Amino acid sequence: MTVLVIGGTGKVGTLLVTTLAANGAKVRVLVRSEDRVALLPTGVDPAVVSIVDDPDGAQAAFDGIDQVFMLNRPVATEVVEGVLAVLLARRAGVRRFVYQSVFHAEAHAHLPHVASKVAIGTAVRNSGMAWTLLSPNHFFQNDWMTREALSDGRYVVPIGGVGCSGIDAQDIAAAAARVLSSDGHDGMDYPIVGRQVLNGAACAAAWSEVLRRPVTYDTDPARWRASSPMPAWLGLDLMTMYETFGRDGYIASEREMDSTVRLLGRQPVDYADYVTRTAAQWGLS
Ligand SMILES: NC(=O)c1ccc[n+]([C@@H]2O[C@H](COP(=O)([O-])OP(=O)(O)OC[C@H]3O[C@@H](n4cnc5c(N)ncnc54)[C@H](OP(=O)(O)O)[C@@H]3O)[C@@H](O)[C@H]2O)c1
Repeated sequence: MTVLVIGGTGKVGTLLVTTLAANGAKVRVLVRSEDRVALLPTGVDPAVVSIVDDPDGAQAAFDGIDQVFMLNRPVATEVVEGVLAVLLARRAGVRRFVYQSVFHAEAHAHLPHVASKVAIGTAVRNSGMAWTLLSPNHFFQNDWMTREALSDGRYVVPIGGVGCSGIDAQDIAAAAARVLSSDGHDGMDYPIVGRQVLNGAACAAAWSEVLRRPVTYDTDPARWRASSPMPAWLGLDLMTMYETFGRDGYIASEREMDSTVRLLGRQPVDYADYVTRTAAQWGLS
């Protein structure tokens, strides 16, 4: 089995590529520039090309590929990158296309970075290839951008008071590895969700417990904006997303939680375990 991973140097992709390679799969990772190759584990085949800048040149990266896993960073060219990748995969005769979307994408398509997932997901479903979608909830790792505030005793991710069924990127990568390594997933859109409903206060309390000092939930979204540099359009997009979470939450049903557990073959990682691991990695505990 040869898998092409697009987005293989990020939070989910790094873990997925490592897992696939450790399980003996042949893995090719498409990276947009030469300096990204150093991020890949040894034994992984890099394909250095930007789909957006050089789509014809990118075609060769799909040669001999059996399955594609793709996630795309929320950038202004996300739809172009994602839909072109589907087109190139189809031309190359790829058997299966696995695409990472977003939990309840249709309901959140008023947000530009989710509208792009709906468009790309439609291209994937209509491609004629076998397909599977993975639709994760809010990543635990969204904390990463706010490390400085956490060190100062403030939890600033504005997820609000209702809560999310947040998930560890480790579990998303594990779910993707399962889909890419087994049959029975064609035409499925899997919610990838945690068991706990986490609101801002619960996240702050988990950090407080692990750091053994007070961490308070800072409810002012401006503080999160200040800690998270990003283009203006994405700032408005994500602020609107957090307003929606604050009002309605982003909570999975029992059925959706059970579906994640079945796919993983175990319970998803607890937020407290993620915080313990992350605080140790950051040298905070
Ligand atoms: N955060 C959440 O709560 C959440 C929830 C559900 C879904 N999602 C979706 O999950 C995806 C992100 O997954 P992730 O966090 O694992 O990815 P990530 O860490 O953001 O990295 C994804 C890839 O983005 C590429 N990249 C880096 N800078 C870029 C740029 N300026 N322009 C274009 N590409 C760039 C990198 O590939 P190269 O090596 O080629 O540069 C990298 O492998 C997004 O589609 C997001 O909307 C996120």
